[in-house]
Amino acid sequence: MENVLTVQNVSFSYRNKYQTVNAVKRADCSFERGKAYAIVGKSGSGKTTLLSLLAGLELPGGGTILFDGKSTQEMDRDAYRRDNAAVIYQNYNLFPLLTVMENVLYSMKLKGVPNKEAKERAEKELAAVGITPDQFKRFPPQLSGGEQQRVAIARALAAGNEIILADEPTGNLDEGNSEQVVDILLRLAHEENRCVIIITHDAEIAARMDAIYTMRDGVLEGNQENEQ
Ligand SMILES: Nc1ncnc2c1ncn2[C@@H]1O[C@H](COP(=O)(O)OP(=O)(O)O)[C@@H](O)[C@H]1O
Ligand SMILES: [Mg+2]
Repeated sequence: MENVLTVQNVSFSYRNKYQTVNAVKRADCSFERGKAYAIVGKSGSGKTTLLSLLAGLELPGGGTILFDGKSTQEMDRDAYRRDNAAVIYQNYNLFPLLTVMENVLYSMKLKGVPNKEAKERAEKELAAVGITPDQFKRFPPQLSGGEQQRVAIARALAAGNEIILADEPTGNLDEGNSEQVVDILLRLAHEENRCVIIITHDAEIAARMDAIYTMRDGVLEGNQENEQ
């Protein structure tokens, strides 16, 4: 299967007047459509920075990230972010002053999806993650954490992006809700052919993914294929 993302000798440093932090020293890895990946590693090892690079939120200081064989540095960064990569965060990052429905419509508005189609897609994706129509008009703080995270996933899905990046998506959830979120993410990879990459501290969750990468002090190690 062809790689949707290929990371070649990528490095990244945070610099300011006082210091330089070499957050990612070396990363070589590749990701395929239809697969789910875990990135594990200690706090501060550079996982979130790597995810920001994959999402196009930061540009590599060195090396190259290829999307379908094309260097992301040569692509329009806003377009790459908007059209290809969706990020899901531990704290859900929903707009608190927009309703559930408006949150999901938002990403499609940015892309210019016509209103009627956007509404249909939003209804379909919300239903697919188990959000009921009576919850569409609620505001995010009126939902449980698990529900909010499922809305965040529906928002990423409705946008149609192929690469789903999730930074500790189950970090604030109890076991039942975590399992539900992980089930959804695996389904996206295996049934909808998206590329799912999640950062997790949870060894059991990592073990459910198709492959595991480990970040150690800024160096990305090994692609350990999980036997299914
Ligand atoms: N905006 C920033 N400015 C300076 N240093 C940062 C910034 N963000 C993260 N870092 C540093 O980069 C390193 C990697 O951080 P991060 O990618 O967040 O690791 P992880 O997600 O694995 O905990 C850490 O040493 C962290 O302190
Ligand atoms: Mg992090």
